[in-house]
Amino acid sequence: MDLLESLVRIAWLIGAAGFVFGLMRMNSPATARNGNLISAGGMALAVGGTLVLLAVTTNPDSPHPGLPIAGWVIILAGIAFGGGLGLYTARTVKMTAMPQLVSLFNAVGGGAAALIAIDDYLRLAAPLCAGCIIPATQGIQGIPLEVSIPTVLDIVIGGITFTGSLLASGKLMGIISGKPIKVPGGQLVTAGLALIVAVAAIYLWAGNVSVPVLFVIIAASLIFGITMVLPIGGADMPVVISLLNSFTGTAVAMAGFVLGNDVLIIAGALVGASGAILTKLMADAMNRSVLNIMIGGFGGGEGTVSAGGPEGGTVRAIGMDDAAIQLAYATNVIIVPGYGLAVAQAQHAVRELAELLEKRGVNVSYAIHPVAGRMPGHMNVLLAEANVPYPQLREMDDINPEFERADVALVVGANDVTNPAARRAGTPVSGMPILDVDHAKSIIVIKRSMGRGYAGIDNELYVNPKTGMLFTDAKQGLADLVAAVKAL
Ligand code: TAP
Repeated sequence: MDLLESLVRIAWLIGAAGFVFGLMRMNSPATARNGNLISAGGMALAVGGTLVLLAVTTNPDSPHPGLPIAGWVIILAGIAFGGGLGLYTARTVKMTAMPQLVSLFNAVGGGAAALIAIDDYLRLAAPLCAGCIIPATQGIQGIPLEVSIPTVLDIVIGGITFTGSLLASGKLMGIISGKPIKVPGGQLVTAGLALIVAVAAIYLWAGNVSVPVLFVIIAASLIFGITMVLPIGGADMPVVISLLNSFTGTAVAMAGFVLGNDVLIIAGALVGASGAILTKLMADAMNRSVLNIMIGGFGGGEGTVSAGGPEGGTVRAIGMDDAAIQLAYATNVIIVPGYGLAVAQAQHAVRELAELLEKRGVNVSYAIHPVAGRMPGHMNVLLAEANVPYPQLREMDDINPEFERADVALVVGANDVTNPAARRAGTPVSGMPILDVDHAKSIIVIKRSMGRGYAGIDNELYVNPKTGMLFTDAKQGLADLVAAVKAL
């Protein structure tokens, strides 16, 4: 290893330290932007170091000794095209379309990692026997196990992530039906594909060199990604996307082993581990297992409407002026944002109402449920975008004891995360931690109808005698409330 290569390796390690430090800073909305910049800086350093190495490398063992001009053209065109497209989509994406964009990024990440491994395998297999099969028994020095294990794992995980993430994104964009789609042959087909991959992988790990068998693994992995995601409903996609994100990281870490690149191993391990933790947190916050989500078929779905509302009570509709008076003359108001607020893009309207109330001396805070909305951190990001002060955003465990002291809980487009039925056994939301909205002295719910939420069940909160239903679109309703409070 010459001096330059040592320096580049040190730059890679500094880049990797940047990822860890950046990730730590993403813990809080106040430092998240800065954390993102630090991580991006780490990536720029790692990419820059690699380019320097490619430009001046004299190492004959390098995979690309003396990179030709054509190689530079491809690399620079790739950076310009991929980077430009990434920058454009990230800057123009709507907040509600973020999960499908993350999924598209996962697809390219997993696909790129798989391509690295395919390229490496073909390069190693070519001098041995281009395109043919060399059984281990012929005694030819094959591809060493420490290379073939990460190579095959990279191709399998990267392949599954590529097609699975494209499909998940398509479902969320509405290009493919968001409903669970049954695969002909069902889980037998998925199990059969897994068996093919396992047998082919063991064949290669046993010391055999075979490009055709490698292509069998590629094809089976790509099809597996499709059959795995097709039966899962669109509403469960955020959890699936988080799981596939974890797969992308694992595939990238494997690519790091294939190339002997420490920064890829560290970056991949960070993404793999954080994606896995996020998947578990989301599943726990919905009180469901990851396996239950992957098998699919949960709830009746958002938008379904019950025949006569929840049993055992009557629904009380209130008017705009009634709601405005309750809010304007309260001491403590807790706002509970949900998926409906995100869809209606009502984050600016809710901030305007909160500011108006605060000017009148009302204490306002926001109760944030971990799975309110359809993606992790959805509410924090939306409200931060509307410049809601961070200290006003309170997490579920922190704010729940305060509902008892709240004069009004204002629920905006949130449904399941407020349903007291979660405290009883035997309902689809049983065991799901909820916001204790029903402990407030008075409750106002803004939604358009008696339509159900994601879990597809009635909300017992709506027949609570303390609850007044304000049937309106979230954005319009909040704007009307602002006008009504101003008129008081
Ligand atoms: P939901 O229970 O899905 O309820 C949203 C409500 O918003 C609906 O009942 C709907 O009622 C109302 N709504 C829709 N558009 C509206 C508009 N324009 N104006 C006003 N209201 C509108 O939402 P939630 O309480 O936020 O709960 C989230 C659910 O998603 C949970 O069940 C959770 O498990 C699930 N989930 C979350 C995640 C993550 S990570 N956040 C991931 C997967 C699943 P109307 O139609 O009557 O207006």
